[in-house]
Amino acid sequence: MSMGWRDRAFPWRRLRKLGILGMNERNADFVLPYNPRALYQLVDDKRKTKTLAIEHGIPVPPLYAVVEIEHQIEELSRLLAPHGEFVVKPAHGSGGEGILVVESRADGRYRRSSGLIMTEEDLGHHISNILSGMYSLGGIPDCALIEYRVNFDPVLAELSYLGVPDIRIVVFRGVPVMAMIRAPTRLSDGKANLHQGAVGVGVDMSTGQTYNGVWRECRIEEHPDTGGELAGVQIPRWDDILAMAARCHDMVGMGYIGVDIVLDRDRGPLMLELNARPGLSIQLATRSGLLPCLWQIQALGDIPGEVAARVALAKALGG
Ligand SMILES: Nc1ncnc2c1ncn2[C@@H]1O[C@H](COP(=O)(O)OP(=O)(O)O)[C@@H](O)[C@H]1O
Ligand SMILES: [Mg+2]
Repeated sequence: MSMGWRDRAFPWRRLRKLGILGMNERNADFVLPYNPRALYQLVDDKRKTKTLAIEHGIPVPPLYAVVEIEHQIEELSRLLAPHGEFVVKPAHGSGGEGILVVESRADGRYRRSSGLIMTEEDLGHHISNILSGMYSLGGIPDCALIEYRVNFDPVLAELSYLGVPDIRIVVFRGVPVMAMIRAPTRLSDGKANLHQGAVGVGVDMSTGQTYNGVWRECRIEEHPDTGGELAGVQIPRWDDILAMAARCHDMVGMGYIGVDIVLDRDRGPLMLELNARPGLSIQLATRSGLLPCLWQIQALGDIPGEVAARVALAKALGG
């Protein structure tokens, strides 16, 4: 593609030629028209999303307990007694904020993914912060979910550093359109959110193979901590993962969503959460713009109802 003086003078012209979706356009052309306001509550509250998923037969990390009021913090040791490892997260959190991944416990102390040790008092304090709304949108009071800690599938070992990589898939009108793996790093403290310092790795839609990576907006070939090659990893059960993403659309009825899926060693693909305003940096990881694919799907009159047909469509369009 040639770059004339107009493209140099107006970078957005160049981005548009590459089909890069920008923030304003995402909101005006996709989020607003395709995601009815009344449905946001289904995805903004992780507890609701989980309940809905269970009703729809979509596997999720099991919920161990919910802490809703300060008073329950006193019972924390009883609540956590049956679980050697678990994750604490704000029900209304986003961007990995406020999530604690606890991987073991000894002598009443908790060891986090990062190796950091917490006392029960520290943990109680953290939960109290969650309840006060420290991590929720608009600072409204929240509740804390305590759930099963995912153990990543060993296939993804090269992509994991002290945490679980997640697979982010953008789904438009029920058709998966773009995917990346987000790999935790030392910086991201066991979480796979890009602005926490995770690596984004593009995934080929038709095969489920990874191809290249981006970290803090720079291209990279190897995981910064494990040194593992980012490209050429075959994600197992790729068709099942695409089908799961497509079914998440049917479950909430929103036309433009980001689906977060993790691959558990024992339980297979699990849906972590849905996002009604999925981020745009997936385009950095895949080095391709969302717009061409979105326009193609917009141009389709009818979208097939059957999940398998939409998976086939996703693989054909993304190939
Ligand atoms: N149950 C879990 N087990 C292990 N890691 C988890 C678990 N839940 C979340 N994480 C880590 O935290 C990241 C963010 O979790 P997510 O539920 O998507 O919340 P957010 O809305 O903050 O993105 C995940 O990508 C994953 O790396
Ligand atoms: Mg997420």
